[in-house]
Amino acid sequence: MPKILVTGGLGYIGSHTVVELINAGYEPVIVDDLSNSNPKILDQITKITGVRPVFHQLDLCDEAGVNNLATAEGDIEGIIHFAASKAVGESVQKPLKYYRNNFYSLINLLNAYYGKPISFVFSSSCTVYGQPDHLPVDEAAPVKPAESPYGNTKQIAEEILRDMIASGANYKVISLRYFNPVGAHETALIGELPIGVPQNLIPFVTQTAIGKREKITVFGDDYNTPDGSCIRDYIHVVDLAKAHVAALKLMGKDFKGYDVFNLGTGKGNSVLEIIKAFENTTGVKLNYTIGPRREGDIEQVWGNVNKSKEKLHWQTELGIETMMASAWAWEKYLSQNPL
Ligand code: NAD
Ligand code: WQD
Repeated sequence: MPKILVTGGLGYIGSHTVVELINAGYEPVIVDDLSNSNPKILDQITKITGVRPVFHQLDLCDEAGVNNLATAEGDIEGIIHFAASKAVGESVQKPLKYYRNNFYSLINLLNAYYGKPISFVFSSSCTVYGQPDHLPVDEAAPVKPAESPYGNTKQIAEEILRDMIASGANYKVISLRYFNPVGAHETALIGELPIGVPQNLIPFVTQTAIGKREKITVFGDDYNTPDGSCIRDYIHVVDLAKAHVAALKLMGKDFKGYDVFNLGTGKGNSVLEIIKAFENTTGVKLNYTIGPRREGDIEQVWGNVNKSKEKLHWQTELGIETMMASAWAWEKYLSQNPL
C-alpha cells in the first residue's frame, strides 16, 4: 500500500483525512506533536477503520527530529501537511509563535525529504483571497494583503512551495485552499475539538445547543448581504478529506510541478442562515443575539470550484443539513464521552 505521511494527522481535518486514506487503500503514517489534539483520536480512528496507523509524536520544528523521521519513514509516496497553528486571533497576539511554527515545520519537512519524488499536499486557506473583488472567487484571483499573521503564513508558504518547484526540486506540489470546514464523521467518533472557547461559528453553535455556552453572538447584521450577516462557503470536513485523496491520485498520474485548488461547495450561506439550518435540522432552538462586527472579518466569500471539478475530479456531496446534523451528533457524543 502506498505510504503517506500525514502531519497534524490527529487534528480536525487530518484525522478525517486519515480515515479516507485508509478507505482508499493508502497507509497513512501520522506525525503530530499533540499541541492542538488528543492522543485518543488515534483510538477513535482505529474504531472507525479497524486500522491503527503508525503514530510519531514529534514537533516538526525540531529539525533533527524531522531528519530522523525521514530516515525512519523514507519510503513514502507522499506527504499531506496539515500541521500548523491556525487560530487567526491568537496569531495577531503572538505572531512569532505562528511564523516560527508554520514556517519551521514546513521548511524542515521539505528539506528532510528533498530530492525524493514526493507528492506534497499543502493545507492552504481561502483566507489568502481576503475580500475578493469578484464572487465566486477562483484560483486565478489575486492574493490580497493578509489580514492576520496566520493568513500571511499561508500566503508565504504557498510562495515557498512555488519557488522550490521553480528551482527544479523533484517534488510535485498541490496547495488546497479550504473554505470553511465544518461537521464531523458519520460515526460521531471524530470531529472538531476546540480547546477553550471556540473561535469558529459551528463549534460555538453546537456548544450553545448542548448548554455549554449561554448564547451565540452574531458578529454583525449590518453587512451588505441579503440578511446583513456575513456569508461563507461551508464545506463538510469529510468532503474536504476526500479531496486530499483526489489530490494524491492526480499527482500519481501525469502531473508536474505546482498547482492550486479551491475546496468549497461553490455556494455561500450567511450566519443567520446557518443558525436557521441548525435549528431546522436538529429541532434545537438556539439562543442568539446580534452583536458588533468582529475585527478582521470579511463580508462575504464563496469559492468557484470548477477547476477542482474538472482537474481534481472532485466535488462536494454533503449538504448543509448533513453538516449541521453531524456536528450536533459529535457534540452530543463528546458530552457523554469526554476525550
Ligand atoms: P488542528 O489544529 O485541528 O490540526 C493541526 C494539527 O497539527 C494538530 O493536531 C496539532 O497538534 C498539530 N501540530 C501543530 N503544530 C505542529 C508541529 N509543529 N509539529 C507537529 N504537529 C503539529 O487544525 P485543522 O482545523 O485540522 O487544520 C489543519 C490545517 O488546515 C492547518 O494547516 C490549518 O491552517 C488549515 N486550515 C484549517 C481551516 C479550518 O477552518 N479548520 C481552514 C483553512 C485551512
Ligand atoms: C464564520 C462566520 C463570523 C463565531 C476562520 C479563519 C480562516 C479559517 C476558517 C483557518 C463569520 C461569524 C463566528 C461567532 C459569529 N481558519 N461568527 N459568531 O472567520 O470565516 O474563518 O476559520 O484557516 O482562516 O479566518 O470562520 O467560523 O470564525 O466565522 O457570528 O461566535 O461566523 O463573523 O462571519 P471564518 P468563523
